[in-house]
Amino acid sequence: MMEVLNTVQQMKLWSRNRRQAGKTIGFVPTMGYLHEGHLSLMRQAREQNDFLVTSIFVNPTQFGRNEDLDSYPKAPEADSRKCEECGVDALFMPRNEDMYRPNFQTYVEVEKVSGPLCGASRPGHFRGVATVVLKLFNIVQASSAYFGEKDYQQLQVIKTMARDLDLPVSIVPCSTVRDSDGLAMSSRNSYLSSEERKQAVCLHQALETAEELFRSGEAEPDNYLKAMSDRIGKEPLAEIDYVELVHPQTLQRLANVDALGALAVMAVRIGKTRLIDNKVLGSGFID
Ligand code: PAF
Repeated sequence: MMEVLNTVQQMKLWSRNRRQAGKTIGFVPTMGYLHEGHLSLMRQAREQNDFLVTSIFVNPTQFGRNEDLDSYPKAPEADSRKCEECGVDALFMPRNEDMYRPNFQTYVEVEKVSGPLCGASRPGHFRGVATVVLKLFNIVQASSAYFGEKDYQQLQVIKTMARDLDLPVSIVPCSTVRDSDGLAMSSRNSYLSSEERKQAVCLHQALETAEELFRSGEAEPDNYLKAMSDRIGKEPLAEIDYVELVHPQTLQRLANVDALGALAVMAVRIGKTRLIDNKVLGSGFID
């Protein structure tokens, strides 16, 4: 039977008892509106641990002033059913007032890797992510935490934080789950009209174009950027926020692409909805 825990104190106690008994806890942090991508993280965590905890918390500190905090999609009943079906033992749904108590003033800054890409378009976003994820790690006391590779930069930020701050948790990256036409699953896909949904496939197709260039031995980053931008530019409702070819660990721009590979990464607005996607080209950088 799944337990639903709404306070930080309840969650800490639940986890403390199990960790003291020598059990492992797999943790999947989410902002809810769960889709197949989240469920695949939960299934993997379920298989690899004695207990599975999922959190649903729409974290205000990672949203900018003009972003979609207030309209972020919610489906608490459907989410809770899906968690139960995936074998979640404890669903943690804290209230904002409990996570950010009066006079809250401590934030985590993961410096270099938070700078480019989404960090440049969404100032303060990764500071909010790192802060809430560290809080959740401390509350849930997970042995392993599972994150999707769709949010590639987020994953790098969290891995860096865990390494730099010696956190006693393993960070487990999980493959992006895609719809049949290749669109990466995201809670924000629910904002798309049917016409926008059709055009949104351009992100994945632009990444496929980059993959083809890599296979053909292309070394010049500008040729990748042009090919990807041209593919996205074919869709009238698509507007590029950024398209980049970077080092998969540092996220810094590459001067040229060699056999080790690169990360092709992008954020594109389809109508009003900002979507992100990425692909690691080659396998030379995999750690
Ligand atoms: O990826 C997300 O859903 C969020 O950024 C996370 C990791 C749950 C932190 O709020």
